Amino acid sequence: MVNIIVDNREISVEEGVPLLAACLENGIDIPNLCWMEGMGEPWAACRLCFVEIEGEKQPVTSCTVLTRSDMVVRTDTPAVRALQQSALALLLSVHHVDCKNCHANRKCALQDLARRLKVSLKPKHLENYLKPVERDETHPSLVYFPNRCVLCGKCIHVCRNLHGQPLISFARRGFDTIVSFQGDDTVFNAECTSCGACAAVCPVGALATKEMLNGL
Ligand code: SF4
Ligand code: SF4
Ligand code: FES
Repeated sequence: MVNIIVDNREISVEEGVPLLAACLENGIDIPNLCWMEGMGEPWAACRLCFVEIEGEKQPVTSCTVLTRSDMVVRTDTPAVRALQQSALALLLSVHHVDCKNCHANRKCALQDLARRLKVSLKPKHLENYLKPVERDETHPSLVYFPNRCVLCGKCIHVCRNLHGQPLISFARRGFDTIVSFQGDDTVFNAECTSCGACAAVCPVGALATKEMLNGL
């Protein structure tokens, strides 16, 4: 164990673990979307978990930094908040915000982050770019909403953990990236057991079992 200081509070943490994990375990809530315990190498896609560390010139993503003795960390500086607000606004610029028709309404990580970071769910200064397919229902038991997906990778991670190999993966590139059950454009893999674990872990309303959508 080593001692580090976060927001003027000294905490004792395991050495060499992701700083984000150490902070969360100690009740220090750093915004994050794409990090999950046991995920292996952090995917670091959401760019939300920034902190400032004494001695570093710029804020760093706390999921990719490992704890070491005597670190002095700040989680709530103007520079950190500005980066988090930009990252969230960017995610929202490719998101179809339609909360009243979404099964994740009121339990959605994006809604929580927007509230916390004081970012509008529909930022006025940003164009909204949406993918052409709003809803993919080709899977027998799951529905995928590309324009709600924040590409956090959590569904892929739980699928890999449960089945030894991921039956879901990211497909395509850049703005067109989607979660696919086949590695290409269609959302179906015959080996999928329809366990629903991927839908359960989705932090937003991007993946749902057809059951979860009853009434919507
Ligand atoms: S995923 Fe969240 S922010 Fe997006 S429409 Fe659903 S509830 Fe609203
Ligand atoms: S479907 Fe949900 S869990 Fe999977 S990458 Fe998209 S937002 Fe994350
Ligand atoms: S949680 Fe660190 S970049 Fe997403």
